[in-house]
Amino acid sequence: MIFGAILAGGSGTRMHISSLPKQFLPIGEKPIIIHTLEKMLVCHRFDAIFIGVHSSWLSLMNDLLEKHEINTDKVRVVSGGDNRNDTIFNIITEIEKEFGASDEHIIVTHDAVRPFITLRILEQNIDAALKNGACDTVIPATDTIVVSDNGKVITDIPNRTFMYQGQTPQSFKINLLKELFERLSEDEKQTLTDACKICVLNNYPVALVNGDLSNIKITTVNDYTIAQVIAGAEPFGGISGD
Ligand code: CTP
Repeated sequence: MIFGAILAGGSGTRMHISSLPKQFLPIGEKPIIIHTLEKMLVCHRFDAIFIGVHSSWLSLMNDLLEKHEINTDKVRVVSGGDNRNDTIFNIITEIEKEFGASDEHIIVTHDAVRPFITLRILEQNIDAALKNGACDTVIPATDTIVVSDNGKVITDIPNRTFMYQGQTPQSFKINLLKELFERLSEDEKQTLTDACKICVLNNYPVALVNGDLSNIKITTVNDYTIAQVIAGAEPFGGISGD
């Protein structure tokens, strides 16, 4: 079976304009998370789509589904975790509670705050995860990447030809991801910020799927403005989030 996982358990500390986590802020008439969910619902290959939100926001999330008249037959709202990977593994636990564990299960994990995900990217993630077990969505780096070990002077300037920027979705065979995670040391588990790194640290090959320049992550107020322009909405319209 194929599962969508919308990662919405964060609190958006780098977005300093509202006490509401950024995924609940509006773009036009709808909150960011509803835009993201609607894009994922367009993909009919999902058997279910799980949304992981912080427990303080579970009832708001359910209210939003009702307010925006989302068909919830395939949608489940569950508690997120303390960090992004914990949110993924909480969702996996909920998937297995309802659907059982299977080597055939695929999870397509996507940031709630990337509302411009396309059907093409979702389809290619599902195909790549089925074929390779793991995939990441990337775009070629356009800026030169500069490495500095101490934040003061340059240590390295890697060849840009080999540099990409990671987006989401990141998609996996669920049993494979669990097995690779268990092989990591406690230190490695604590320092992980990216789910694909679970594979990389185990030398498991992660296939690349072409992302899209518009598949931006809304992290800062500047990104939020750009997202509203992309969506054709009035920048900062109705920011109260009520
Ligand atoms: N996320 C999650 N569970 C967490 C932390 C983050 O599901 N415990 C999700 C966020 O909700 C977001 C995505 O991971 O959709 C990308 O993370 P990021 O942009 O860093 O979101 P926040 O953690 O909310 O932001 P910040 O780092 O500014 O606090």
